[in-house]
Amino acid sequence: MAADIIDGKKIAADIRGEVKEQVEELLEQGDVRPGLSVVLVGDNPASAVYVRMKAKACEETGIKSEVIKMEKETTQQELEDVIDRLNADPSVHGILVQLPLPEQIVERDIIMRIAPEKDVDGFHPVNVGRMVIGDPSAFRPATPAGVVEMLMRTGHDPSGKRVVIVGRSNIVGKPLAVLLMQKMKGGNATVTVAHSRTQDLAAVMREADILVAAIGAAEFVKGDNVKPGAVVIDVGVNRLDDASTEKGYRLVGDVAYDEAAEVAAAITPVPGGVGPMTIAMLLTNCIKAAREISGIS
Ligand code: GUN
Repeated sequence: MAADIIDGKKIAADIRGEVKEQVEELLEQGDVRPGLSVVLVGDNPASAVYVRMKAKACEETGIKSEVIKMEKETTQQELEDVIDRLNADPSVHGILVQLPLPEQIVERDIIMRIAPEKDVDGFHPVNVGRMVIGDPSAFRPATPAGVVEMLMRTGHDPSGKRVVIVGRSNIVGKPLAVLLMQKMKGGNATVTVAHSRTQDLAAVMREADILVAAIGAAEFVKGDNVKPGAVVIDVGVNRLDDASTEKGYRLVGDVAYDEAAEVAAAITPVPGGVGPMTIAMLLTNCIKAAREISGIS
């Protein structure tokens, strides 16, 4: 059995189309153009690529974006000063500080500095807390929100299903577990968060109706970890050296795709799965921020 491919690129393009319409609506209703400021500190090549992709997506949908590039030697104070300026700027509705940050910077304090109403990443503890209690005013972090959205839009409602998330990061595993267990649309699942200390991880993964891999280890999930007929969502993006390619590497996920696709009912590819969804959901958070800050519902 070959699995259906869950086409994140296509779903994300649909969402970008919806975002574009909402930008036009905001302009008509209140002469408000949503604005996103992205701060990139240092020269991490992967971060630079992600930031470029975010800015391009903004441009395509009519969201005003600026990228503020800062030296890798930037101090905590310098970065906090930039955030304070963006917090106070009424044309900026969303602020995103690309992670990871250089080691001299205390990431937690930077996240805390961003005004919660502009925290389109949903990383500020106020937004995390609101999300946990099911408050719709919370910004949902983009990657977990993208996973829920792609399940719903492909007819794989997690309600009542056994979901196993492999990985417990603050950006993906933990918030995804919260969203999927909520008593709301896109939730109502029975969620297990598995990780490096989980006993008999292979057996736990094989119980999943929906298996989400978010551990950051190339091709960690094998075909025999997947229950026949399960839905497999691969959040991982890993570079594997490959001299036969132009760039000298290729991207693979946290799932051994070919093996898993033999067993699963549906699966997300890498690239072209969760990645484009993350950017699309960031854009929807920018619209939400612009609406709430400008008082246009
Ligand atoms: N680095 C990896 N993923 C993300 C994300 O979703 N937001 C930010 N700010 N940094 C990241």
